[in-house]
Amino acid sequence: MNHPFFSRKKFIFKVFQTSAIFSLSPVLGKLYAYGKEESQIFRQDPFLYAENIGLKKPIEKIILTATIAPNSHNTQPWRIKIESDSSFLLYGDDKRTLPAIDPINRQFYHTQGTYLELAKLAADALGYDSKISLFPKGIPSAKQMNVLPVAGFQISPIKQRTQDSLFLSLPKRQMNRSEYSGDWITEDESKELRNLTNPNSIQLKFILGEDQIQSYLPFLIDSFAMETNLKAQNEVTRVWFRKESEDVYSKRDGLSLEGNGVSGIKAWIAKKFFLDLSYEGWHSEASKNASIELFKSQAKSSKGLVLFISKGNDDAKEWIRTGMDFMRFSLAAAGKNLAFHTMNQALEDYPESLGFYNEIKSKLGLQKKERIQLLGRLGRSDYHYESPRRDLKEILI
Ligand SMILES: Cc1cc2nc3c(=O)[nH]c(=O)nc-3n(C[C@H](O)[C@H](O)[C@H](O)COP(=O)(O)O)c2cc1C
Repeated sequence: MNHPFFSRKKFIFKVFQTSAIFSLSPVLGKLYAYGKEESQIFRQDPFLYAENIGLKKPIEKIILTATIAPNSHNTQPWRIKIESDSSFLLYGDDKRTLPAIDPINRQFYHTQGTYLELAKLAADALGYDSKISLFPKGIPSAKQMNVLPVAGFQISPIKQRTQDSLFLSLPKRQMNRSEYSGDWITEDESKELRNLTNPNSIQLKFILGEDQIQSYLPFLIDSFAMETNLKAQNEVTRVWFRKESEDVYSKRDGLSLEGNGVSGIKAWIAKKFFLDLSYEGWHSEASKNASIELFKSQAKSSKGLVLFISKGNDDAKEWIRTGMDFMRFSLAAAGKNLAFHTMNQALEDYPESLGFYNEIKSKLGLQKKERIQLLGRLGRSDYHYESPRRDLKEILI
């Protein structure tokens, strides 16, 4: 796998250093800290990274690699029980739900789907077929998440090799929240994205061309401003925001300024003079306005929009399947060197958001059964930020 930031030689040297430290002694092991470079190295070649931290079995490599999946607020709400060398159970983590912005767990289940699809692609890349059974013991209520699995996942040696090329784009995939530049997304590019994604469950609808895009921006911007001005909803971002590097790489989850497309001197100034994670600071008018202005500049630089539309029962199974297609799309975009950023404030299931949802749905002329599950902007950008993932021991049951 190619990655612009690391030569393979440097990577091997680095992971050798890492594994050497791990094996020397538990005391020395503590000196090794997960940081920015490790986060990048992990994404560059997750299988090699897994080996070098002692995960040799295919099932372990698959479980670790799938944590790179996009997930709501980088909460990583997954719990895994390894059953055997060829199977695991995936559970939702009820301590990592976001009720204020996701009251019916729609995005929570999308996030289970992204994990499962990436696990499937990782298994394929390692030479295994996978069988996924959704909710093998029934759909859990909020109180049953720890006992009723979201899915069973089983691998068996591949019968016919049809390696899905999407997996090769994993090192380049990220949620890119920077300002985009360059040309508008073309009709041909949207066709290529559709073909590469090859969705199993949802329909992809593209909004292309300056005028069309402009006509949807008010929904995105106004719904973001609405959410930012609601205490409970704005509080979710505060709780999951990590300001200093030490916080980002010790907690290894959540959101950050760098992940929001702000880096270098701008990030330094923002952290030093503006960004305030205290309750009063975060909810102050100045802080909310700064966040809305940043979002506006992101949204206005969109070079295309994409919507993920389902047409079934709009239930937990459909949300998981949506997440699976969303995973495929995000890899397809990475493969075409396109930047992609999900923006869902107008699609959420609390009353203030529902108003925006209904307006977009009617503007699109969708049928009653059709449901916009997710939407995002597309464009071009060289910005990169590899958001961290937690240690596997935090996820394993
Ligand atoms: C279901 C779902 C909903 C998301 N919604 C948003 C969103 O509204 N705004 C946003 O900036 N990112 C959104 N994201 C992106 C996540 O925050 C992102 O995947 C996570 O922080 C990890 O970063 P990475 O994808 O770069 O690895 C969403 C991701 C998923 C899977």
